[in-house]
Amino acid sequence: MKCRVCRGPAVIDLRRHNANFCPEHFVKFCRDQTAKAIGDHDMLQRDDRVLVAVSGGKDSLAVWDILTTLGYVADGLYVGLGIAGYSDASADAARAFATTRNLKLIEVDLVDTYGYDIPTGSKAAKRAPCSACGMSKRHVFDEQARVGGYDALVTGHNLDDEAAVLFGNVLRWQTPYLGRQRPVLHAGDGFPRKVKPLIRLGERETAAYCVVSGIDYLVDECPMAEGNRHLAYKEALTD
Ligand code: AMP
Ligand code: FES
Ligand code: ZN
Repeated sequence: MKCRVCRGPAVIDLRRHNANFCPEHFVKFCRDQTAKAIGDHDMLQRDDRVLVAVSGGKDSLAVWDILTTLGYVADGLYVGLGIAGYSDASADAARAFATTRNLKLIEVDLVDTYGYDIPTGSKAAKRAPCSACGMSKRHVFDEQARVGGYDALVTGHNLDDEAAVLFGNVLRWQTPYLGRQRPVLHAGDGFPRKVKPLIRLGERETAAYCVVSGIDYLVDECPMAEGNRHLAYKEALTD
């Protein structure tokens, strides 16, 4: 297996692109794909102040890394969800990344700030944990972007995430959701612009990007997400 660019030994094959890459050219490929998504969809301007929502997982650390190497000024935002056995490890991964790269990480803990964590909050609201979690995170993202005067809020949603959401919304024919699923949500009514620069990269690619770039990410998935519909749609598509 040879790298498409330099013919050196390849470490990954990307059937979707009919290409193999060595570590150096794979990293370049991921950065180029991200730059293309940003350019094609007019996601970010060069002088934007960017806030990256970071969970400590592969996607959000990869997008933070790529944006800084592309020259964007980007701070991180970590939301502590109070999920035992998961939140501490995810915070550690986000902090370690920020420290080693001298990047600013804003931390908001749901218990300290709002007096609830996801396990108890979701029960009180009679919502599934992931739904309460998604709402809480979106609120904190909006609030921190507004207070901090950021132009755009970046999340690490990748191609597999977007395909699974599209699949679910088509199966249940959720037309309002279908209309809103875009790579860019424009700013308005006090909400920041929201962008997803990794929509051209699949999950396997963002994981490989982290491994090849020496980014230590939290591999474990959230224990409360087990059995949720989004993961089932993803598995169905992967099969
Ligand atoms: P999820 O909703 O877990 O699929 O995550 C989607 C995106 O939301 C991730 O790629 C991150 O950008 C962001 N995110 C998830 N969890 C957190 C968190 N605890 N703190 C900050 N951002 C998060
Ligand atoms: Fe939100 Fe698990 S990360 S419920
Ligand atoms: Zn190469």
